[in-house]
Amino acid sequence: MSTSNNKPFVLVQDAEMVFTSRKGRFHALREINLEVQRGEFITLIGHSGCGKSTLLNLIAGLLTPTGGGLICDGREIAAPGPERAVVFQNHSLLPWLTCFDNVYLAVERVFGAEETKTQLKQRTQEALELVGMGHAAAKKPQEISGGMKQRIGIARALAMEPKVLLMDEPFGALDALTRAKLQDELLKIVARTHSTVVMVTHDVDEAVLLSDRIVMMTNGPAATIGEILSVELPRPRDRVALAEDPVYVHARKAVIDFLYTRHSHVEAAA
Ligand SMILES: Nc1ncnc2c1ncn2[C@@H]1O[C@H](COP(=O)(O)OP(=O)(O)O)[C@@H](O)[C@H]1O
Ligand SMILES: [Mg+2]
Repeated sequence: MSTSNNKPFVLVQDAEMVFTSRKGRFHALREINLEVQRGEFITLIGHSGCGKSTLLNLIAGLLTPTGGGLICDGREIAAPGPERAVVFQNHSLLPWLTCFDNVYLAVERVFGAEETKTQLKQRTQEALELVGMGHAAAKKPQEISGGMKQRIGIARALAMEPKVLLMDEPFGALDALTRAKLQDELLKIVARTHSTVVMVTHDVDEAVLLSDRIVMMTNGPAATIGEILSVELPRPRDRVALAEDPVYVHARKAVIDFLYTRHSHVEAAA
């Protein structure tokens, strides 16, 4: 691997986000500084409304910061791009296309200029198999479960061979068992693909299980990064063994302390 050593792969420098709408100005994020190394798995955690999605959307290039800047692999992030694929909570598949075609569409957009149809189809099939959905290629989204739809969303993102995989609460709408299964699968896929991942979650266990580092955000308005916790657990990680691992228990407690003792959420009186 030609890793340019210690050079952050994703760099967020003094980013600020102020939304201006008909209701006025809202200062969502301030002084966000974050460095993500190639191959790192980062989660963003914080109370609802603190600005997790806003930060992810800044990295995705879906939003432009009102201050500061963002860089991915040495280039300024100025717009969305296939090198930063996003998986959303509500899977956002096109309902009139089959699972295969939902993935194929993205593959064609990224590789269509250089590759033959046969190659594009092969990429699509491989991505579906990577998430265990090869058998559902011909199905329409409404014919499969929520967990399966989320897998297709992940397949679509991975098929683009993004430099960074961005995920906004990808398992948030799933039941606990399906969520656990997909977390385990994601761990395996990331180990195989060496993907760099930035994922939003509000689930403490999910954050500890998956992350190399957990970025904990303070409450808004003008939220920022309060603390970053390194999770020094070896990989592969096994959820059953981890439950009693002192490092796991300690990391979990640190996040809970941050969220519920030092930055407990005060519901906006709006
Ligand atoms: N387009 C927008 N215009 C105005 N305010 C916004 C907009 N998007 C988000 N916000 C506000 O910014 C804050 C952070 O939102 P968001 O990033 O979605 O939070 P989270 O993902 O952590 O729940 C919230 O108070 C939200 O209402
Ligand atoms: Mg959000």
